Amino acid sequence: MRLSKDKIKQVYNESTNFWASIDLLSDKYLSMLKRELLSTYSTLEIGCGTGKLVRAVQPYVANIIGIDISDASIALAQKLDSKMASSFMVMDAEHMLFDDNSFNAVFAYGSISHNLCNPDKTFPEIKRVLKKGGFFYGKISYYTCGKELGLRNGLAKHEITRVLKETGLNLEILSIVRDSLTLNSVDYSLFVKNTEIQLLISNNKLQKIEEIVKRTISVDDSYLIVKAKK
Ligand SMILES: C[S@@+](CC[C@H](N)C(=O)[O-])C[C@H]1O[C@@H](n2cnc3c(N)ncnc32)[C@H](O)[C@@H]1O
Repeated sequence: MRLSKDKIKQVYNESTNFWASIDLLSDKYLSMLKRELLSTYSTLEIGCGTGKLVRAVQPYVANIIGIDISDASIALAQKLDSKMASSFMVMDAEHMLFDDNSFNAVFAYGSISHNLCNPDKTFPEIKRVLKKGGFFYGKISYYTCGKELGLRNGLAKHEITRVLKETGLNLEILSIVRDSLTLNSVDYSLFVKNTEIQLLISNNKLQKIEEIVKRTISVDDSYLIVKAKK
């Protein structure tokens, strides 16, 4: 089961403070970007949420735009970008309003999965807006992600490989990073108590979730680092 666009928007509008509070960036992903990005690059992040990756990347590139379907997240991203160094827009990554061949690099940091940007609709759009020779850099939840909640959220290696092949993007790096994320109970409950997230969780798990949100926990945050070239 996938959430509808309206539900996704509602979930992220309601949990904006949670996402702004877990301001963690993957070292492995950031080191790859710092090695590879050029100061002349025109770049885009899809599903930028409250803009933490946009703020981290902005000093290394000529310009960066962050898009998200959650208007509350974009409003907070604009507020947190006190120097107004980046652009943020409310836009659906599956139907982007940019011209073909617009960007040297496109990023997706935790925004492509079973319940977020649909890979089969989003990768053709990423390919369309990338310039020839441009790169996609993704941090994508691994299929184990969300199992504490009984959710099927992340993607397996073979799913990424298939969609990139079908889209015609050339895979250069696909590695698994095994990690965990420590969340304090207050932040986590903002997310888990969200009505739509609860709808996704089967009834017999709700009691366990109630127990989890009472304490600080470590959740499985294994992810895939992906680099692909147009
Ligand atoms: C897990 S959050 C990650 C946000 C941000 N990249 C971060 O690391 O904090 C996923 C984001 O993807 C956005 N999203 C989901 N579907 C989308 C779509 N079709 N187009 C644009 N953004 C989308 C959500 O609104 C949410 O902000």
